[in-house]
Amino acid sequence: MTEYRKRTRAVHAGTRRSQYGEVSEAIFMTQGFVYDSAEAAEQRFVKIEGDEFIYARYGNPTVKMFEDRLASLEGAEAAFACASGMAAVNGALTSMLKAGDHVVSSRALFGSCLYILEEILPRYGVEVSFVDGKNLDEWRAAIRPDTAAVFFESVSNPALEVVDIAAVSELAHAVGAKVVCDNVFATPVYSEAIAQGADVVVYSATKHIDGQGRALGGVILGTEEHIRGVVEPYMKHTGGSLSPFSAWLMLKGLETIELRVRAQTESAGRVAQALSQESKLAQVIYPGLPTHPQHDLVERQMAPAALSSFSTQVREKLHSSF
Ligand SMILES: Cc1ncc(COP(=O)(O)O)c(C=O)c1O
Repeated sequence: MTEYRKRTRAVHAGTRRSQYGEVSEAIFMTQGFVYDSAEAAEQRFVKIEGDEFIYARYGNPTVKMFEDRLASLEGAEAAFACASGMAAVNGALTSMLKAGDHVVSSRALFGSCLYILEEILPRYGVEVSFVDGKNLDEWRAAIRPDTAAVFFESVSNPALEVVDIAAVSELAHAVGAKVVCDNVFATPVYSEAIAQGADVVVYSATKHIDGQGRALGGVILGTEEHIRGVVEPYMKHTGGSLSPFSAWLMLKGLETIELRVRAQTESAGRVAQALSQESKLAQVIYPGLPTHPQHDLVERQMAPAALSSFSTQVREKLHSSF
C-alpha cells in the first residue's frame, strides 16, 4: 500500500479477510491451528509458507495484521508484536547481543530501559558504555570497532532530550554496529527513524498506538532479514508475543493515531506556550518550543517542523504530506 498516504494505511494496511469478507478485522482468539493431514502439519512445522500459522506464540492472523499495518506506517519491511513495550526493548537487544559484545547507550532513559542496559546485559557479559545522547562527541568517543549496537530513546522519557538519529547512525554504521531506536515519544506519526538510519525501531504500543489506556503492547520493526532471522526466533521461543485481543485493540488504535497524536501535540504546544509566560517557572521543556535547546534538530528530525503546532502554514503542509 506504499502508494497510499499514511492516513489511509493507518486504517487499511495489513488487513487480511477471512472467507466471510468481514469489514472490521476479525479477532482470532486461538492459540493453535488445524491441519488437513498429519503430513500438512509436519510440513508446516518445517517451513511456514505465506499465510500459514501454527501456534499463537509464533504468529496469529490478528497479530499479523497489526504487525503489517505498523510496518507499513513506519516504512519498515517487517515487525514482531510483543506483549509490552519492555518485552520489545528487551527482545530487540537480547536477540542480537551475546557475551563479549559492546553497546553504547544514551544515559537519559526510561527506568526499565536503563535497568536492561545497566543491570541485565552486563550480567550476561555485554559491556555497556553510557553517553550524553545529545553530545555527538561523546558518541564518537564511545563507539569502538567492537561495538555491536547503539541504543537510545529518540526523545527521552521523561526529560525530552533528543538524539540525532542520522548522525548517531552514521557513526554506528561506520563500525558495523546496529542502531536500535526506542521511538515511543516520537510516535509513528512524527517518525522517520528508519529513513534516517535506524536499523531497529521499538515502540511501546501501550502509549499512543492504543492511545486509550486499554492494553499493554509493543513492537520491534526492522528489515525482513533481521526480524525473521534474529528477532522472531528469540521472541517466539521466549514467550513475549502479543495477545490477539490486544493486537485487535492496537489495530483499532492505529486507525485514529494521526488525529489523536496531532491533537495532543497541538494541545501540549499551547500549554507549553502558556507556561513559558509564567515567570515563577525556571524552565519549560517542550521540543516544539523554539526555546528548547534542540529545537532545530526536532524540526529536522520529526517530520520537519511537525511540532511547530502554532503555524497554520506548517500544519497544512504536514497534513498534506501525511
Ligand atoms: C521510552 C519508553 N520505552 C519503553 C516503555 C515501556 O513500555 P511498556 O510500559 O508498554 O512496557 C516506556 C513506558 O513508559 C517508555 O516510555
